Amino acid sequence: MSDIAKLQIGEDSYEFPLVKGTENEVAIDIKSLRGATKGVITIDPGFKNTGSCESAITFLDGEKGILRYRGYSIEELAEKADFLEVAYALIFGDLPTQEELDKFKKDICAQSLVDEDIRKIVDAFPKSAHPMGVISSLTSALTAFNPSTVNVESEEEMYNAIVKIMGKFPVLVAWTMRKKQGLPLDYGDCSLGYVENTYKMMFKQPNQDYVTNKIVVDALDKLLILHADHEQNCSTSTVRIAGSSHAGLFASLSAGISALWGPLHGGANQAVLEMLEAIKEDGGDTKKYMAKAKDKNDPFRLMGFGHRVYKNFDPRAKIIKKAADEVLNDLGVDDPILEIAKALEQEALNDPYFVERKLYPNVDFYSGIIYRAMGIPVEMFTVMFALGRLPGWIAQWKEMRLNKEPIGRPRQIYTGENLRPFKSIEKR
Ligand code: CMC
Repeated sequence: MSDIAKLQIGEDSYEFPLVKGTENEVAIDIKSLRGATKGVITIDPGFKNTGSCESAITFLDGEKGILRYRGYSIEELAEKADFLEVAYALIFGDLPTQEELDKFKKDICAQSLVDEDIRKIVDAFPKSAHPMGVISSLTSALTAFNPSTVNVESEEEMYNAIVKIMGKFPVLVAWTMRKKQGLPLDYGDCSLGYVENTYKMMFKQPNQDYVTNKIVVDALDKLLILHADHEQNCSTSTVRIAGSSHAGLFASLSAGISALWGPLHGGANQAVLEMLEAIKEDGGDTKKYMAKAKDKNDPFRLMGFGHRVYKNFDPRAKIIKKAADEVLNDLGVDDPILEIAKALEQEALNDPYFVERKLYPNVDFYSGIIYRAMGIPVEMFTVMFALGRLPGWIAQWKEMRLNKEPIGRPRQIYTGENLRPFKSIEKR
């Protein structure tokens, strides 16, 4: 293949270089397009054909169903690594040595207290507030208590901001859940592993000793690994674009959390469980809901199905489905919605509508079933996704800053009114 792309606009022709990634993905570098053509731009709503950056963090092949962080396959990481190792690899480029991991954990732990005044902010939220709104606000509020995390330029300043948010975020997650349940807000126990400590902070009862359930902690660790990064998805792009204005790390993460909230993105895990519950309440007739999903006059979509990039099985969904079976079995939970989920999956995989459109179960289809078995309330599911995605967002923000990427500022094609005279109010 030539390494030049040719573009013809009317009589004029232009050449643009091709960019090739390490996995042979090809892009046309159009940086000079507008200047060379005196004003022509590209338009691509939803960025379906647009690469926003070059990135060395995550590789995803949606046709083949491949996902790798820093070159390591998601299957191997989910089986052999723990969440903190994966977080380190995403943020710093490779899996840590024992010494590096110990230091990372110690530094995170040292930063895991939040200002006690944050409790007042938590208290000000009504119990009915959606946890995603609360956690997004608290993450942004952390900036006010940690102003040194805003103007970060050096890798050392970035490191300090990173361990702060890695330490404080699980506390905010736990407080967000406990506030809703009217439970006292507490800190964790640094002698425990990162995920075990998070789970304990969420679930420790004030009048009982806490006993770790290894099955639950291992399953949560795996779920968080599977969610840890997914290249330039909606929330990650939001983090990168907010951060490109040199807004602080925490403010950029807060923007990403808001983007994750929607049901077409991270909010799908809550939407899936609510959908499965609704089908169960409605008598378990999966065929009826399949028909609704295919009816173009019905806004209903089969939540947990389809993906912008995967046109094959989402590799994360395969691992999660197996984990859901194991966890429910190990915990002795017999959840009827697992059967509904399996029936829906089978019907969709054999239905021409879903087959033709390459709609397969995605990461969110089975994750809610596991979260529910762990005792995590439905409204917290997307917060758990955010906890898992935190290292990915951080890694992408860091890469964007270190690569000195310019401020993100797309252009547009204006389709509004041409210049017209102002009309005074009585003439309108
Ligand atoms: N149920 C029924 N039809 C669907 C679905 C679905 N879940 N997803 C896509 N389609 C149809 C869609 O109607 C369209 O049909 P047609 O070509 O006849 O107009 C076609 O498939 C292509 O869909 P699209 O909306 O153009 O695809 P997209 O790439 O813009 O959207 C998506 C991807 C994930 C937003 C979409 O598949 C969806 O809404 N899925 C349900 C929500 C969901 O599970 N989201 C979680 C994604 S994975 C977690 C994450 O990374 O956030």
